[in-house]
Order: sequence, then C-alpha cells, then structure tokens
Amino acid sequence: MLKHNAHTTLAIKQKPMKFNTKTIHGGQENIDPAYGSVMPPIYQTTTFSQSTPGGHKGFEYSRSGNPTRAALEKSIASIENGKFGLAFGSGLAAIDAVIKLFKPGDEIISTNDLYGGSYRLFTSIFENFGIKFQFIGMGKAKNIEKYINKNTKLLWIETPTNPMMNIIDIEAVSKIAKAHNLLLAVDNTFATPYLQQPLELGADIVMHSATKYLGGHSDVVMGSLVVNQKKLAEKLYFIQNASGGICGPQDCFLVLRGIKTLHLRMQRHCENGEAIAKFLKTHPKVGKVYWPGFEDHLNHDIASKQMKGFGGMISFTTKEDTLKSATALVEKLKVFTLAESLGGVESLAGHPASMTHASIPKEERAKTGVVDSLIRLSVGIEDEEDLIADLKQAMG
Ligand SMILES: Cc1ncc(COP(=O)(O)O)c(C=O)c1O
Repeated sequence: MLKHNAHTTLAIKQKPMKFNTKTIHGGQENIDPAYGSVMPPIYQTTTFSQSTPGGHKGFEYSRSGNPTRAALEKSIASIENGKFGLAFGSGLAAIDAVIKLFKPGDEIISTNDLYGGSYRLFTSIFENFGIKFQFIGMGKAKNIEKYINKNTKLLWIETPTNPMMNIIDIEAVSKIAKAHNLLLAVDNTFATPYLQQPLELGADIVMHSATKYLGGHSDVVMGSLVVNQKKLAEKLYFIQNASGGICGPQDCFLVLRGIKTLHLRMQRHCENGEAIAKFLKTHPKVGKVYWPGFEDHLNHDIASKQMKGFGGMISFTTKEDTLKSATALVEKLKVFTLAESLGGVESLAGHPASMTHASIPKEERAKTGVVDSLIRLSVGIEDEEDLIADLKQAMG
C-alpha cells in the first residue's frame, strides 16, 4: 500500500491565474509559514524529527518528500495545468518511473524520432525486463492504430521531436489512446508548458527534462512528471519513493527560480529561433532546415493549432551533406557553444549523430533523417545579430 505523503501527492488546486502569473505564484501559497520568505527555504536535510513514531509534520525522510521539492512539484503541476507534480533526479529518471508502471509482456508504442537516451533506456534496459517497444512514425496519428494490440499499454510521444522537429497531434493521439484504453505520455521538454500543455489536449502524463527550459540556466539536471489522475499520481509516487530517483533540495530551489522567468525566456527563444531559422533557410551553404514555424513544415498546421509559438530549437543539414562539413561548421562557432543539452539562456550547437543520438544505431537514425550532416541548435536569448554573425562566420 502507498505510504501517503500529504505534501508530495496532494492535488494542487489550480487558481484562476494566467500562465505568466502561475510561473511566479502557481502552487506557492504559504510557502514559508515560519518567516514568510518569498522563496521557499532550501531544506537541506535528510530527515525530520518525530514527536512520537509516525508523528511528523508531513515529511519524514527526504527521499519520500522534502518541502523544497514539494514547492517545486506544485509549481510544475501548476504551470502544466495539472493536479499532481513529481520531481526526479533527471529527465531519464522521470521516464524510468513511467515505464516502471508496466510489467513483462506489456507493450509500448513510441515515436521513432526521439531523444537518444529515451531510446537507450527503452531498448537497452526495459526490453531486458520483458517490456516490448515499437518505434513508429506518428506524423499521421492514424498510423498508430495498426500497431495497437491487446498487450499495448502506453503511447509515448515527443513533440516537437528531438532532433528532427517533427510535430505530433497530441489531441488526435489522445483520442486513439482513450478509444483503446491506453495511457498517453508526452515528453514536453522542447515545447515547455509556455508553448503547449499536453494535459489540456488529453494526455495522461506530461514529462520534462527540467534540465532544459524549466531550469533554463544549464546548471541543474532534473526531471519531472505531471498528471491529473489521483490513482496514477499515487502509483508514480510509490515508484518515485521505492526506486529513489529523486532530486536534492538545492537543485529544486534552482529549478523553481528558473521557472519564474520561463515565460520571458521562452518569448525570446521563440523570437531568436524564428530569426535564425529564416536566416538558415536562405543561406547557400545550408541544406534542409527543420523548424515547425515554416509553412512548408510537414505538420505546420498542427504546430500552429497546439503550440503558442514555435520555440528555439532548430535542426539543419549542411549543403555539402557530409560529416566533415558539419564538424567543420560546429568547430568554428564562437558564440554558440558546441555542447550536449539545450534550453539554457546560452545558445548551444550539437551534432546529434555523434552526441545526443549516438546511442541509436546508424541505420535507425538514418530512417528518421538523423544524418551525419545534421546540426541541432538550441537558440539562446542573446542578441539575434550576434548569433547570426556567428553562424555566418562559421559557414565561411
Ligand atoms: C527530449 C528529451 N527528453 C528527455 C531527456 C533526458 O533528460 P535528462 O538529460 O535530464 O535525463 C532529454 C535530454 O536531452 C531530452 O532532450
């Protein structure tokens, strides 16, 4: 039976606030009853005193729950328009908790274009425990139905996908999930709740690598889940506590601080993203540019329907279409940093085939377009002129 921790699994009551207000105040009422601090104290403690066995004030041991983590979990639930939030030590720890809802023989259908680490977790860890995965194109939601069978339990989607920026119609997929009694989980890392709120579109679980835009400053690795159903929240809380993939209070404080400027940062990420996508599209040394804001993007209409903007993530190939040309380009960048990760204030460039997606076999990568000349940009919030000048000089 679940040992209920009131602070962690208590449903937050969504206040009638708009999004920007929620990033600052959502779920943060009475955050420090002792002194009224505006930010929650960092409860750097493993344990909490009890007056009598079991007589605690809501927290007993920091794996089961910690007040700083509870403040963050409520904030994340609030901005995703959900009831229950859970924070983990990384995005992958959050995904790991979701998959642990299932047992040998269960099947999961995932999009075939997804973060390499998620693919690795599914195929190299969970397949060993008898959970089966199918990786399919979900650009057309209808395509999913023919892969569903009596063992299917979960649809796992990322949208926009990493790194090809494919868009999946969350509402259409959620209708399919409901018709077949399946759970739908959405990795909302690229879009953030500022641009897209999957629970509102019918998803059951929304997942984040909070390492990225939620934290926003490239200084914390963290993951999160938000759900609306109490039973599901309790199961996930049980797994969070039983498996122990939690995050520390200092990190929770930092992500909570990051969330307070999410809306402002996302506005600038979107503006700079648009400027750079348009610059790349006309540059003679660039091949294909993948960004959902372009009208000729395969699912631009769906992106326009379910997202408030198109974000700051862009992938492109070099015109020469070789590993050498892509490597030469990223090595010359000076304002963009060549590095793994995304979603921070600083602009980053990555080479998916050898970095973030190296764990996916080359043949699998090729099927989805992750070729050797592909470069992924996480456009930061610097001045757009400096970013464009940097790309120009690097392309020569
Ligand atoms: C879309 C997406 N999901 C999940 C993850 C995993 O998150 P973390 O690195 O915090 O474990 C990443 C990391 O890059 C990601 O890009």
